[in-house]
Amino acid sequence: MSFPKPKFIGQSQSINKINELVRKVSDADFNVLITGESGVGKELVARSLHYYSARSSKPFVKVNSANLPGELVESELFGYEKGAFTGADKRKKGLFEHAEDGSLFLDEIGELPLQLQAKLLQVLQDKCCHRVGGQKEIQVMARVIAATNQNLDREITRGTFRDDLFYRLSTISIHIPPLRQRKDDIPFLVEYFLRKIREQHNTPDIKIPESLMDLFLEYHWPGNVRELENYLNRLSILENFRELEEEIVASSRKNNSKTIQPPKYEDKPPSSLLPNDDVESIPPLKEVRDRAVKKVEREAIEKVLFQVNWNRRETAKILKISYRALLYKIKGLNLSPPH
Ligand SMILES: Nc1ncnc2c1ncn2[C@@H]1O[C@H](COP(=O)(O)OP(=O)(O)OP(=O)(O)O)[C@@H](O)[C@H]1O
Ligand SMILES: [Mg+2]
Repeated sequence: MSFPKPKFIGQSQSINKINELVRKVSDADFNVLITGESGVGKELVARSLHYYSARSSKPFVKVNSANLPGELVESELFGYEKGAFTGADKRKKGLFEHAEDGSLFLDEIGELPLQLQAKLLQVLQDKCCHRVGGQKEIQVMARVIAATNQNLDREITRGTFRDDLFYRLSTISIHIPPLRQRKDDIPFLVEYFLRKIREQHNTPDIKIPESLMDLFLEYHWPGNVRELENYLNRLSILENFRELEEEIVASSRKNNSKTIQPPKYEDKPPSSLLPNDDVESIPPLKEVRDRAVKKVEREAIEKVLFQVNWNRRETAKILKISYRALLYKIKGLNLSPPH
């Protein structure tokens, strides 16, 4: 499938630097790690690296490490031989093989389970892999581009991401700053998206009133460029600008109120944690502490989930834990979305 020429729009210093770097390193075969918040354009940069390289006519294979089902990750990445496990009734190529001598884009690399991180490191070092249940060495020719919206330094400190894999992946690293830190890009992006909408839908020119542009420049864009693009798409179907202005103002307010109040620590633990007044039945202190922690954790998680409409990725971001850790907690606390 051919992909349109990627255009990474912006005139801010950081975007100019990124565009320059992309041109410079696209043909070098170094691994590249792209970091930045959700919606800043990591995939667009990955596609640009591929597009401007000599590999551009070869496959670009995207792997979402977070969506790969745990027990199948290995066979998805490296393929399997017939009979490797129950249900493997014929040989299947893995994504590394599908990428051939093109580019393999490992998205959300921070979500890759530790055991697979070790395997991936070995494959990157040896430049070859084996299909699950197979002996034959398969040469890995694809160039690996990885991306994450997590702070991998922190994950390394926590022990959830291998530092040796981090160094292997980030021979070149590209960080894309959030849109709120490069607001001079906003007018260029607005113009670009409006032209795109006009060309795609054959609609008349849309002029953005100054008041709306001012709002765009003030707003903090938690969803970054993706959010701006969505607003403009909506604008093209809304009857008037006021609706959108009101929406942005409301969203600003909502986002401000999203800052979670830290749980109030009281002098004594909430009574519900301890059985009435009978000292004999008070559990060991460790258990009391575990229960208290669980209770405040549950409160914080429930509160955020409720505010963001059970958007788990957003919740993980606000609580500054990994998506995987959040899913684990939701399961452990037995939380489920309201009907
Ligand atoms: N500088 C830019 N110029 C033009 N379009 C952009 C730019 N940055 C982002 N976009 C557009 O914004 C949308 C989101 O970008 P992209 O999917 O690359 O973000 P991402 O960083 O991979 O986000 P996530 O972490 O949520 O996957 C896409 O439609 C992309 O084309
Ligand atoms: Mg992405």
